[in-house]
Amino acid sequence: MAPLTPLLLSLSLLTPLISAHGHVTGIVVDGKWYTGWNAEMKYQTPLPLTAGWQADNLDNGFVSPDAFGKPDIICHKSAKNGNAYVTAKPGSKVTFQWNTWPVSHKGPVYDYIAPCNGDCTTVDKTSLKFVKFDAGAWLSGNDPGTWVTDNLIKSNISWSTTLPSNLAPGNYVIRHEIIALHAAQSTNGAQAYPQCVNFKVEGSGTQTVTGGVAGTALYKASDPGIVFNLYSKFTGYTMPGPAVAKFAKREERRHGREWVGREE
Ligand SMILES: *[C@@H]1O[C@H](CO)[C@@H](O)[C@H](O)[C@H]1NC(C)=O
Repeated sequence: MAPLTPLLLSLSLLTPLISAHGHVTGIVVDGKWYTGWNAEMKYQTPLPLTAGWQADNLDNGFVSPDAFGKPDIICHKSAKNGNAYVTAKPGSKVTFQWNTWPVSHKGPVYDYIAPCNGDCTTVDKTSLKFVKFDAGAWLSGNDPGTWVTDNLIKSNISWSTTLPSNLAPGNYVIRHEIIALHAAQSTNGAQAYPQCVNFKVEGSGTQTVTGGVAGTALYKASDPGIVFNLYSKFTGYTMPGPAVAKFAKREERRHGREWVGREE
């Protein structure tokens, strides 16, 4: 039996590493649960209706910085439009429920919104222009310090945000994303986990979402904040990607998060 022990030990050490990424299993909007996309659903015929975009992330894996200029970064690997919507209104509380998140995978958490200008179930993902409306990253300490991902884990592995309080009615894709930095000291070591969800916003808001950035133009592999050594005595963190849109400032404060990085 003795020769088996090292093998069993190494297998048990490996298993958490292999399964240690995550995906959004569901979205709670104003208290109502909507099932998200789960890559295992791809074997079902017909495909279940999910507002969560379909992606080939069966491994719960990630998009690497060398693909930040390619369509996989928009809504994860080989993503296809979600075939349903969640219903929301301006100021809705939105919670993204992750299946799991490892404490080592510290980094920024972002929420972006893009108008579909039509039907999000058929829109060309490369035409979507994303505006960042919520962001958090480093909170305190270093090597590795405390990050919003630690709060996400403490909050039942979920992230809550609110939609802009005067958001105009229409169809939108919300792109929720965690960027894990545990290997980001090496070029191409950061890990992006984008998750897209179709939203049908009702009500009588007047704030339209304009400007925005194509998913493939959000980050570069060389951005400070994409290349970053978590295991050093850092004193700040520059959040990669576009600044948080002004229309969302009020919602950000309501969360009481601490902020570092680019401001408008
Ligand atoms: C925690 O997450 C699970 C799903 O992973 C969910 O079923 C449960 O309702 C959540 N608990 C709370 C208090 O939100």
